[in-house]
Amino acid sequence: MDRIAITGGARLNGSIPVSGAKNSAIKLMAASLLTDEPLRLTNMPRLADTRFLGKLLSRLGVEVTESDGPDGQQTLLHAAEITSGFAPYDLVRQMRASFNVLGPLVARSGQAKVSLPGGCTIGARPVDLHLQALEALGAKIDLHEGYVYAQAPRGLKGAEIVFPMVSVGATEHAMLAAVLADGVSVIQNAACEPELVDLQECLNAMGAKVEGAGTSTITITGVARLNGATHAVIPDRIEMGTYAVAAAMAGGEVRLTNARPGLIDNLLLKLEEAGAGVEHTNDGCIIRRNGARLNAVDIETAPFPGFATDLQAQFMALMTTANGESRIRETIFENRFMHAPELMRLGADISVSGGEARVRGVEQLEGAEVMATDLRASVSLVIAGLVARGETTVSRIYHLDRGFERLEEKLGACGAQVRRIKGDGEPEL
Ligand code: EPZ
Repeated sequence: MDRIAITGGARLNGSIPVSGAKNSAIKLMAASLLTDEPLRLTNMPRLADTRFLGKLLSRLGVEVTESDGPDGQQTLLHAAEITSGFAPYDLVRQMRASFNVLGPLVARSGQAKVSLPGGCTIGARPVDLHLQALEALGAKIDLHEGYVYAQAPRGLKGAEIVFPMVSVGATEHAMLAAVLADGVSVIQNAACEPELVDLQECLNAMGAKVEGAGTSTITITGVARLNGATHAVIPDRIEMGTYAVAAAMAGGEVRLTNARPGLIDNLLLKLEEAGAGVEHTNDGCIIRRNGARLNAVDIETAPFPGFATDLQAQFMALMTTANGESRIRETIFENRFMHAPELMRLGADISVSGGEARVRGVEQLEGAEVMATDLRASVSLVIAGLVARGETTVSRIYHLDRGFERLEEKLGACGAQVRRIKGDGEPEL
């Protein structure tokens, strides 16, 4: 298996273009199941997760064609006919978001059999809210031997869906199913993440009638059929935030482009509070830090527009060398501190108790061998490696490849000493 080696100490100076958002792209790809006409997605990131979902969609009958042209990276998805409504365990287990094909399959062809995703390293992550939404829309749901059997032979019916807690995936799933339902659906206590707005825009370009995404109430007036469309994937706010933190950690000056200002305001305010320079630009921001050590600041993760849980690990890495003690509270997932012991291998001083970590900044981290445990945890180790003395080697970087496009190239272009060590094909224990 491949590893990434980082030699710490180089400042970052340059420009990093932000890719299309992974977490939006994979839901938009699932939307292709809703129409027999082609859906063209532009600004598509090329990641293990998008490739993986492409594979699953192909099995369901979608023709998936990737192209890289002068207009950038595109994926054309054409589900002229759904040839299978079956998503097996081995595929859903590897990428939980595959579960979101269930709603579009039932909406389009009246039935589906999709594996339950199972557990996850960052928390239990049940799918009860997804199923609650589909049942509200009139689908008959049965669970057998690890599979969800969903049926709606006469189509889904518009309904009010009141979520007891905010869930990004369940809101997206409800939206994907309700667009073809008969009548009006109202989703209450909806997630407000920018990826929901992106999904609404794409679905509306396909002829759907969705309003309110980005607020806690989304109204969907079902239509009989959807058409093809071309849609540009929203910039990846988590990738943008990750490089913003990397620049603040390593020092120097980095311009983030092809992004959308306003997507990570909460993080940028925290970076300023810690002492980094932040300048907003038309298509992103510039992050600066020259010399002075950052100050410790506290964060608490929350649904959008709060501090994103997907940036918590990166911020913890940043705080490992800040001046003072930082309190980091994780409120979205119950087990999202697995990067803490790995950061401690680099010399960080962290104690974790329940949903709170206390990080006491040290003067200097030391390079070591560390292991990635999930996507965002893995990039937090790379960020720490940027300032650790000597070499840091991160193993299990298949996690990283799921969500960061050309990471070594993007950081390398700004002067970071980051290289990929090709593995021997042997799985890591
Ligand atoms: C999405 O996951 C993202 N994944 C996650 O990013 C992100 O961390 C998360 O939203 C929160 O922003 C994708 O978009 C593919 P949730 P999702 O449903 O939709 C509980 C990354 O690194 N819950 O908003 O699965 C759940 O257990 C990933 O890119 C239920 O109890 O998150 C969690 O505690 C990691 N029942 C909370 O809600 C349900 O049916 C929020 O989860 C669904 C969720």
